[in-house]
Amino acid sequence: MIAAMNIKITKTSKSKLSGTDFNNLPFGKFFTDHMLVADYADGEWKSVEIKPYQALSFEPSMAALHYGQAIFEGVKAYKNQEGDPFIFRPYDNFRRFNISAERMEMPAVPEEIFMEGMKQLVLLDKDWIPGKPDYSLYIRPVMFATDCVIGVKPSDTYKFIILLSPTGPYYSHPMRIYVEEKYTRAAPGGVGFAKNAGNYGGAMHATAVARKQGYDQVLWTDAFEHKWLQEVGTMNVFFIFGNKAVTPSLEEGTILEGITRDSVATILKEMGLVVEERKINIDEVTDAYKSGKLSEIFGTGTAATISPIKELCYKNFTMSFDTGQWKISPAVKKMLADIKTGKIEDTHEWMVKV
Ligand code: COI
Repeated sequence: MIAAMNIKITKTSKSKLSGTDFNNLPFGKFFTDHMLVADYADGEWKSVEIKPYQALSFEPSMAALHYGQAIFEGVKAYKNQEGDPFIFRPYDNFRRFNISAERMEMPAVPEEIFMEGMKQLVLLDKDWIPGKPDYSLYIRPVMFATDCVIGVKPSDTYKFIILLSPTGPYYSHPMRIYVEEKYTRAAPGGVGFAKNAGNYGGAMHATAVARKQGYDQVLWTDAFEHKWLQEVGTMNVFFIFGNKAVTPSLEEGTILEGITRDSVATILKEMGLVVEERKINIDEVTDAYKSGKLSEIFGTGTAATISPIKELCYKNFTMSFDTGQWKISPAVKKMLADIKTGKIEDTHEWMVKV
């Protein structure tokens, strides 16, 4: 095993920084000057390296392309008020990454590679961290199978890569969401809790169908009754009923254990709300809407941060909200943003200094 302190760093000879328009940063479109690459072979991680961001070459038989052994994470770095770089809850991403790896029969990435590698990379490209509200440096760790053989079996070789992308908001407007009743994202015993590439690929058709109807995304429901709410695919979901916040529970293993979800639940509790993580049925939501008890619906995610849902459509019934009147999710969003940028004290030790 290679200790991360021995990471070889090759700096770019031609930075792209000055040519990047920091006022125009669509999510995930631009990449910083460097990336981290580590290779797994013969049962161990080797050749951990930070080098200029560049294309990779691979053979068409590469296993990840055929059988989907590919997992990733989403993490964000911010600057505090003094301009020092910090990463938001990266140890939680590290833990979740290796849970995904285990489910996909891939090797665990050691902490010194994941964490030290990420810190060293962010430090090297720290000038790429945007300073504007709602902007951040998105960190994308990814691992995929690299064996060049098309027999169906777990690969013996893998690449672990960390990319950095300076980015603006993922969703720039309140969302219109369709409650999915035909397609299924995840069932108990499946891979819904893992951040594997196939979960996102499998969601694209249903999302495209919903988009044609003018929706931004779908809210996934359970595989059997299409009634029990899961997640929005890029986000976990919260419902505010008066002084109570409800979010689908993790117990069936069909949704992602969101780190923003956990942060939001923590902040909501500190604001005095009752937070329930439990099964929630679409009928409960529509009934509460009809009786005026449903005040806010929003998504939470690393990329999405906190995204208000202004319309939720179930069958032919549309629940509409004037998100400009909302109090709770904007307050949580501001508190989270203030913690991330060091404007208020980070009492939970969520921010990790680079
Ligand atoms: C994230 O929130 O970081 C995600 O990975 C969701 C999406 C951009 C794929």
